[in-house]
This record gives sequence, structure tokens and C-alpha cells, in this order.
Amino acid sequence: MENFEYYTPTKIIFGKGAEERVGTEIASRGYKKVLVHFGGTYLQENGTLDRIHKSLTEAGLTYIDLDGVVPNPRLALAKEGVELCKREGIDFILGVGGGSAIDSAKAIGYGVKYDGEVWDFYEKIAVAKDSVPVGVVLTLAATGSEMSNSCVITNEDGWLKRGLQSPYAYCKFAILNPELTCTLPPYQTASGCTDIIVHTLERYFTKPGVTSLALTDGMAEALLRNVMRNARLALQKPADYDVRAEIMWAGTLSHNDITGDRSQGDWASHQLEHELGGMFDIAHGAGLAAIWGSWARYVLKQNPCRFAQLAVNVLNVPYSFGNDEKTALEGIAAMEDFFRSIGMPTSISDMEIELTDTQIKELAHKCSFMGRRTIGGFVTLNAADMENIYRMAR
Ligand code: NZQ
Ligand code: ZN
Repeated sequence: MENFEYYTPTKIIFGKGAEERVGTEIASRGYKKVLVHFGGTYLQENGTLDRIHKSLTEAGLTYIDLDGVVPNPRLALAKEGVELCKREGIDFILGVGGGSAIDSAKAIGYGVKYDGEVWDFYEKIAVAKDSVPVGVVLTLAATGSEMSNSCVITNEDGWLKRGLQSPYAYCKFAILNPELTCTLPPYQTASGCTDIIVHTLERYFTKPGVTSLALTDGMAEALLRNVMRNARLALQKPADYDVRAEIMWAGTLSHNDITGDRSQGDWASHQLEHELGGMFDIAHGAGLAAIWGSWARYVLKQNPCRFAQLAVNVLNVPYSFGNDEKTALEGIAAMEDFFRSIGMPTSISDMEIELTDTQIKELAHKCSFMGRRTIGGFVTLNAADMENIYRMAR
């Protein structure tokens, strides 16, 4: 068993009506003035924003709204938020929405406490040392950003999508009311479930030599089976509270390291997808579904037994004795069948993107940070490997 540290400082408030507690959660910590940060109109239409405003006011807080977050959240809006917070003396930021609203809120939090350009952190030329505290009302189960130390932002200058991990990105609290996810369109539901699955798989495919723990593997496998079952159910019964609750809690647990230590995992599928998201503005989970099978076939020989374990324990593939590789390949195909069954792509062309050779080179160039980094814990991948996987996935 490997040594590890486990740190999850976010308070979770789960259940029906939980968003009505948002005001007291902030006020009880001594904060006074809140930036409420979100995306589009569904929050106004379904009354969620009104309930949040009411709760803030009743708790004696003042607030300012900043809307306009889009999927693959943009640096320009985060910078606008930084200026607004500084000007208005905001001392708490509330992200309302999915991963994009949360990450935009986190980026603003970093920027307020920094005199330089917030993008410096994402370019790794500065290290975040502080942040305005952030809380979350989650409306989309997917990224796990509500309990992760991660934040992903897209810079319109060059369409670079970059992630940042820092202890300052942990939210003070996350309010999870599964009812708020019932309005999700089927594609976003499926994309969110795919993201949850891939966060778990990224941790499952560990660096060589890492001893896996039966308990942790068991939790990861149970989570995967659970999300697959409930993803299908949510598409049939979008307003079923229990189904939404299963997915929501799984989404949070999939990215808080309970199913495996992030630092021992792979993450190549995520890095490859982030470049696709930066270039083509696709839904993150859909991009992962399009990439994952090609990544898996490319790295399979590193440890076919691990893929065979996934195939048997999660995907109901019968074990071919003495032939891990056959079992593994059947497992990868079964995972792709599942993605297709919930309306997800399993190739880039399934998203109506016809990648040219030039674009493949550009994606790999960006993903390798212009040749400065490799990706992948399970198998280390250089820019040429990245090109090969994009080519297999196209
Ligand atoms: O734009 P709005 O109006 O907010 O609508 C959103 C958006 O169009 C909509 N939506 C959200 N909740 C809804 C709803 N529509 C109806 N009813 C609801 N209840 O769904 C669309 C997608 O929202 P978004 O927040 O973009 O999706 P998601 O939660 O998948 O977040 C994706 C972003 O998070 C990053 C991704 O790369 C991407 O930028 N990630 C962040 C991570 C982290 N910080 O830990 C980890 C992930 O691996 C991921 O990279
Ligand atoms: Zn993800």
C-alpha cells in the first residue's frame, strides 16, 4: 500500500431545499458581501436564483450578480469578475451551476488576491498563495469541482484550456440538491455521467508500480457500476429524485480522491480532451467519451490485467482464462457500447468534427505545452503519442 495524504475540507449539504441554507452558511463564517456567479437563464426560469437571493438577504448579506458563464469558462469573464470584486469589496464568491460556473468562481477568487494576471497560475509561471473563499450551489453532477482542488479555464487568446490544482481551490461548502439537476437536457446528463466515470477511471489506471488497494478498487468499481445504471435511468426518468441523487453524490465522490489518489492516476484522457474543448468548445464529458477508447487501446499493453479487471468487475465481460488482453479489449468495447447507449460519441467525428492532420499536430503541440511536457501516469505519452491517439480517435 502506498503512503498518502487525504484532505477534503469542503462541507457538503445534501438534499431537497438545501439551497435555502446558503445565506446562513456564508453569514455564519463572518462574510458580508457576496458575488453570485452563474451562467444562463435556467436558474431564473426555475426560481433557483430567487431562492438563493432570498436566503442571502434573510441572512443579512448583500450581493452582486455576475452572469454570463459559458461552458468551457473563459478567462475574460474571470478577469471582469476580479475587477468587480476588487471594486465592490466582495469577500465571498458563490458559484451557481455546473463545473464551468464553479471554476470561473475559483479563478476570480485567485485573481482578486493577486496583483498580476490570473492566467499566470494556469501557465505555471506563478503559484497561487491565496484566494477569496468560494462556495457552490451545484446544478449539474459531472466535474466534481465542488469538492476538488481543481479549476479549468479557457484563454480565448490561442484557445488554450488549462487546469490548475491548488489547496486554495477547495470550496468552503457545496450545496447539493439533486432536484436542481432534474432540468438538465439528456445530452448534459449523459456528458456529466461520462465525466464522473472517467474521473474514476483516471484514478483506477495508476502509475506503474503503485499497489492498488482492494478497498479502493472496490469503491471505484461500485461507483462505476452505479453511475452506469443510473445514467440510463436518468435518461428514462429525468425527474426521478433518487436517480439524480445517486448520480450527484457519485459525481462528488469521483473527484475527491476517495476512489483513488489523484496524484497516482493517469489523466491523459483529460489532458487530451481539454485541448479538444479549447479548440472546438465541446461538452467536456462528450469529449472524454470520444477519446477514452482510443487512449485505452493505445496503452493497453502496459497492463492488460488491469483492463481485464475493469472488464469483469464493472462491464460484465466473461473472463477469458489465460488471455487478459482479449478480456481487456472486450471490456473497452463494452465501455464504448455503454457510452453510445447514453448518446455519447466514441470518436471525434461522432461530434461532427473532421480533424485535419494540421489540427492533430496543433492539438498535440498544445497538449504537450509546446513540447515542454509529457502526459499520463499509467503510460507516459509524448507529443508523438498524443498525435497517434488523436488520429485513432478521429
Ligand atoms: O451555461 P448555463 O446556463 O450555466 O447552462 C449550463 C451549460 O450550458 C447547463 N446546465 C447546468 N445545470 C443545468 C443546466 N441546464 C439545465 N438545468 C440545469 N440544472 O449545462 C451546460 C454545461 O454546464 P457546465 O457547467 O459547462 O458543465 P460541466 O459541469 O460539465 O462543467 C464543465 C467544465 O468543467 C471543467 C471542464 O473541463 C469544463 O470546462 N472541469 C472541471 C473540473 C474541476 N474543476 O475539478 C474537473 C473536470 O474534469 C473538468 O475538466
Ligand atoms: Zn472531467
